[in-house]
Amino acid sequence: MSKISITKKTAWSLILKINKSIPCVRRNIININEKIAKTEIQLSYDIKNNLIKESNILFNEDTENLLRIFFPIIFNYKKNQYIAHIAQSLDGYIATESGESRYISGKKNLEHIHMLRAISDFIIVGANTYIEDNPKLTTRLVKGDSPKIFIFDPKGIIKEKDFQSNSTHLSGNHKSFLQLIKSRKRSIIYIEGGGKTISYFIKKNLLDRLHVCLCPIIMGGGRASFIEERYIKLSDTKSYKPNHYKMGEDILFDININ
Ligand SMILES: NC(=O)c1ccc[n+]([C@@H]2O[C@H](COP(=O)([O-])OP(=O)(O)OC[C@H]3O[C@@H](n4cnc5c(N)ncnc54)[C@H](OP(=O)(O)O)[C@@H]3O)[C@@H](O)[C@H]2O)c1
Repeated sequence: MSKISITKKTAWSLILKINKSIPCVRRNIININEKIAKTEIQLSYDIKNNLIKESNILFNEDTENLLRIFFPIIFNYKKNQYIAHIAQSLDGYIATESGESRYISGKKNLEHIHMLRAISDFIIVGANTYIEDNPKLTTRLVKGDSPKIFIFDPKGIIKEKDFQSNSTHLSGNHKSFLQLIKSRKRSIIYIEGGGKTISYFIKKNLLDRLHVCLCPIIMGGGRASFIEERYIKLSDTKSYKPNHYKMGEDILFDININ
């Protein structure tokens, strides 16, 4: 097979295209044959081992990493797939004590966050984050549609006046979110933070994939990434086998939780 180079943009368009037409048939090896702009892309992908086995593409680090980060998400056939991303300092903080978090990670990670939004059907964002950050939660840095937004607000602190103008945002607890997605065949649900919301989904054993972006800053204190309300012995902790991807000066830990 003669090899062709593709840009990161082309690789991203491929991911978006596949995500829109994902077949319901479960297979271990997926054969992809897609035309993106004028480029014919052929590859076979081993889902279990997250490996591109054969292809007509000459990969560089950016394009290969992009496929290896997003293929396990789009080729997951679960009805409701929950993915979370959090950017944290070297000492494990996601915001200062007063709630400042823009920006802990660099440009490449910001683009990655927008890509996670673009492949998702819903974003779940915590009520504290929604109020404190007033985030736009769009995909403005990349190609792809912005997903629907659900504010995780079990205490009901969000009032109608808090909703961003022209938005169709919804809020509530986890039960009301499940009601919202009940009739859907397949949903990718991206949990954008903060720490309390992500920890809630981890505790309920609902999280499928966790992206932790480790950023080379030391904050010395602030809001924690993960909140555990009980005393844990080191011997009780679970160890994961993440993949690592360099994003500028940051490192993304990609963890398959289940
Ligand atoms: N670095 C990053 O990647 C990143 C990403 C997103 C957000 N952030 C930062 O994260 C901070 C906010 O995060 P956060 O952890 O304080 O809150 P959060 O996750 O944004 O909001 C969670 C909301 O759910 C409520 N809640 C009620 N019951 C809960 C339960 N059982 N489990 C979990 N939550 C429950 C919380 O109330 P209570 O607060 O009263 O408990 C809170 O209102 C902001 O400063 C934001 O800037 C950082």
